[in-house]
Amino acid sequence: MIDQSQPFRTSLLEENDGPGHNPTDNPTMGEIIASRFSRRGFLKGSLAVSAIAATVSPMALMLADDARAEEKSAFVFEEVEAGIDQEHHVASGYDADVLLRWGDALFPDSPEFDPKNQSPEAQAKQFGYNNDYVGFIPIDGSSEHGLLVVNHEYTNEHLMFPGIVKVVEGKIEVAPADQKRVDIEMAAHGGTIVEIKKVDGKWQVVKDGKLNRRITANTEMQLTGPVAGHDRVKTNADPSGTKVFGTMNNCAGGVTPWGTYVMSEENFNGYFSGELPKDSKEAANYKRLGIPETAYEWGKFHDRFDIAKEPNEANRFGWVVEVDVNDPASVPKKRTTMGRFKHEGAESIVAEGGQVVFYLGDDSRFDYVYKFVTSGKFNPDDRAANMDLLNDGTLYVAKFDAEGGVEWLPIVHGSGPLNAENGFASQADVLIETRRAGDLLGATKMDRPEDIQPNGVNGKVYVMLTNNTKRKDDQIDAANPRAKNAFGHIIEITEDGGDFAATKGKWEILLKCGDPSVADVGASFSTDTTKNGWFGMPDNCAVDADGRLWVATDGNSPKETGRTDGIWAVDIAGPARTTSKLFFRVPVGAEMCGPLMLPDMATMMVAVQHPGDGGEDWEGFGRPSYYEDLSTRWPDFRDDMPVRPSVVAITKKGGGKIGV
Ligand code: FEO
Ligand code: CA
Ligand code: CA
Repeated sequence: MIDQSQPFRTSLLEENDGPGHNPTDNPTMGEIIASRFSRRGFLKGSLAVSAIAATVSPMALMLADDARAEEKSAFVFEEVEAGIDQEHHVASGYDADVLLRWGDALFPDSPEFDPKNQSPEAQAKQFGYNNDYVGFIPIDGSSEHGLLVVNHEYTNEHLMFPGIVKVVEGKIEVAPADQKRVDIEMAAHGGTIVEIKKVDGKWQVVKDGKLNRRITANTEMQLTGPVAGHDRVKTNADPSGTKVFGTMNNCAGGVTPWGTYVMSEENFNGYFSGELPKDSKEAANYKRLGIPETAYEWGKFHDRFDIAKEPNEANRFGWVVEVDVNDPASVPKKRTTMGRFKHEGAESIVAEGGQVVFYLGDDSRFDYVYKFVTSGKFNPDDRAANMDLLNDGTLYVAKFDAEGGVEWLPIVHGSGPLNAENGFASQADVLIETRRAGDLLGATKMDRPEDIQPNGVNGKVYVMLTNNTKRKDDQIDAANPRAKNAFGHIIEITEDGGDFAATKGKWEILLKCGDPSVADVGASFSTDTTKNGWFGMPDNCAVDADGRLWVATDGNSPKETGRTDGIWAVDIAGPARTTSKLFFRVPVGAEMCGPLMLPDMATMMVAVQHPGDGGEDWEGFGRPSYYEDLSTRWPDFRDDMPVRPSVVAITKKGGGKIGV
């Protein structure tokens, strides 16, 4: 059962992924106990020394600092005060309007949301739970009319269902599931595609949009690429090994240059239960991925999630799924070329040679950073010509060295150790066990790679590494330089020749996160960063049309950092580089997901996940469950802020570009 006892638990499955699944002693980079300073840190130090040597007056330095901060930051807005309460807060001069909440209608015939009378049928026509990735596919090139695509990562039963929890000695206990509850959970997973429109400066949902669609843990999908039809993905229900039902734990994702929606399957291990048959060849494969985790009770009612009954079903999850949003009846395709692991996101960019490059994180402690480069070229004039680009290409895993170089190692059957001797008979075997391929190639074990965002404006790539408190002193390396890394860091990659398809590049640490006023933390925010401007646990991120970086966090809490999660604007260029400012913050207990800046930069969409999660009471907002006694415990309850998982549209009052 789920351990509900941890207060302000932000993301159960992620926290549960544990240290145990990567047993290799791969080079936490070849035992290089490195002390490579980030270039930025070194530069700042040298400048400080020379400034003092030249005996510039302290007052002049202070004035220069003020001017520099004001003039050089790429962001213009009044910073929000970091803190904790049940509201969301956005920089003054901006509106943050709830656009969609869990349970909201998506179709003309969607039932009204009724938390006390939920059903799988109603949920399948309503906005799902725990919105994470948010993407936008313009209609006719507009930034004010398009399709919003949203992942529904997972469900929090104790927050969703009235009457199923009790508090025993300060710990929440959740009643065992019945089939109806499991089926509601399955319908609340997956994704939403919904038409939205800005009318008089305010966003609204177009309920009769012809392309509106819900994808759930039951939607028919097709396995494509080298793994399709392989014996290891055949089941009793599907002897063809190609027809899969559903997707789940879709964390971050992406929108391709040809306008399809890409959903990443992250902690899929949590949905499987049971025990593999004794003679199963999948034992090591499943162990490396933490299968089964039994965080959910789906296997009690649906045999395919019980690995004793369907020992191959779990090989059909852990992929990247591509959805053609232009046809609501299209069968989403699981693209096995892009590997099988706990996929966080799939942001892409067109390389100078025309190939499309996807950056992929495997969000577990000590797991890897990947990229996928298509063999074919993107055709901007013919959408149909791009629809199977993802079936052919090369997957690479990253090795970061102590001299600031990154090498992308191809994950190709027959190359190096990826051969029959190591149990790989074909590329299908290699892809099914992508993590083991990375282990054998000597990839660098990272501090939980989350979102990875290529930046088309400056040609660099930003890698969010959330945290890894299990890293020991003798496991640090240049790219993961802190033991017990509680607050995470951000790496910046520059591919050779500015070519995203290159197999080599340079890297440096942009930012080590955490409270810069505590020396032991070792954070590296610029000195212009205020007490509100620092953060921990970078998770999702966005790069806007001007190439500016916005970072969303997962795990800031009263206990950890004295603040809730939010969106921080992080300067990456010029003298203000590593200055960070708080733009938006979530209600207590929530995790910040999204974010997405629309192409015209006049709207930022953000996703507020599991607001109020955790055992503590927060003036009626914290709870065992929202719906039992919300009105009595919290008389000030309001409908215009996220008390349910919500997508929030941020716009400037009176219009205009955000942060400009
Ligand atoms: Fe679902 Fe890795 O955050
Ligand atoms: Ca994430
Ligand atoms: Ca997360």
